[in-house]
Amino acid sequence: MASPGVPADLEASIADLKKELNAVILAHYYQEPEIQDLADFVGDSLDLSRRAADTAADVIVFAGVHFMAETAKILSPSKQVLLPDLDAGCSLAEGCPADDFARFREMHPGHLAITYINCSAAVKALSDIICTSSNAEKIIGQIPAGQKIIFAPDRNLGGYLVRKTGREMVLWEGTCIVHETFSEKKLLGIRMEHPEAELIAHPECEKVILDQADFVGSTSALLRHVQTSDATSFIVATEAGIIHQMEKTCSGKQFIPAPPEESCACNNCPYMKLNTVEKLYLCMKNRTPEINLDAGMISRAGTPIRRMLAMS
Ligand code: 13P
Ligand code: SF4
Repeated sequence: MASPGVPADLEASIADLKKELNAVILAHYYQEPEIQDLADFVGDSLDLSRRAADTAADVIVFAGVHFMAETAKILSPSKQVLLPDLDAGCSLAEGCPADDFARFREMHPGHLAITYINCSAAVKALSDIICTSSNAEKIIGQIPAGQKIIFAPDRNLGGYLVRKTGREMVLWEGTCIVHETFSEKKLLGIRMEHPEAELIAHPECEKVILDQADFVGSTSALLRHVQTSDATSFIVATEAGIIHQMEKTCSGKQFIPAPPEESCACNNCPYMKLNTVEKLYLCMKNRTPEINLDAGMISRAGTPIRRMLAMS
């Protein structure tokens, strides 16, 4: 039953509000399936940033987490950006406070700061270039040899990039609470049960998982891979929300979520899952919670994000 003040037909009401506000709904692959199905566009962090920068809508409803909505505001400052739940954060962003990051920079003079998009606007403002998991290798490949680099805040993605590119980087010690949860031991068990299945993993996973993976990539790269691979079953080592698009676009293929260490639903991001269809409706109806940033922050954080877009 719908909560008080919430219409029974949420889908139709959201469609009406979308017209009334001239809004676009952008959703990340880790959102619950109902939200993905309502969205105008579902994508990874890079695609969502591009959409936010290019939209002709007046209002961007961001079904994702706080740093993604902030990035949308920075790229489209004249638009109203709504986030269904303001508490939808990210363990990587929370583990990298701007003051500590400023000290990290000071400790490494002469280093270029390449920073993963999973961080606050304040940390972006202190960075040289932003990257996502889909463009990080390409960006690092454009940095002159000999230029020293610091990479924050994900040490797993950073370590993966060091191994892939052969570039030394000083890494910030952050992790994603979802991707560090996969159990090597349980994974071995599942692989024995499904010897034909490919293991696919997001680079935020620990090295022990990435070393065994048949394919490593961002959420959109993982999705493209399952769509084009000859394999018919896959063990998926990333947040379980992506499986919705995999099942929708690959009928007849089997997707097995990689097992977390504990008997829990830890492969569901607790931040991403704070957003619900009901909260999506309410944020559009009430036009709040809204992302607001001062003009100085928008300008300082915008420079390294635009550098990323130009280098991608
Ligand atoms: P991508 O969708 O860019 O691969 O990022 C994954 C993620 O963890 C977002 O929080
Ligand atoms: Fe952050 Fe991990 Fe959740 Fe992505 S899945 S939003 S990296 S905590």
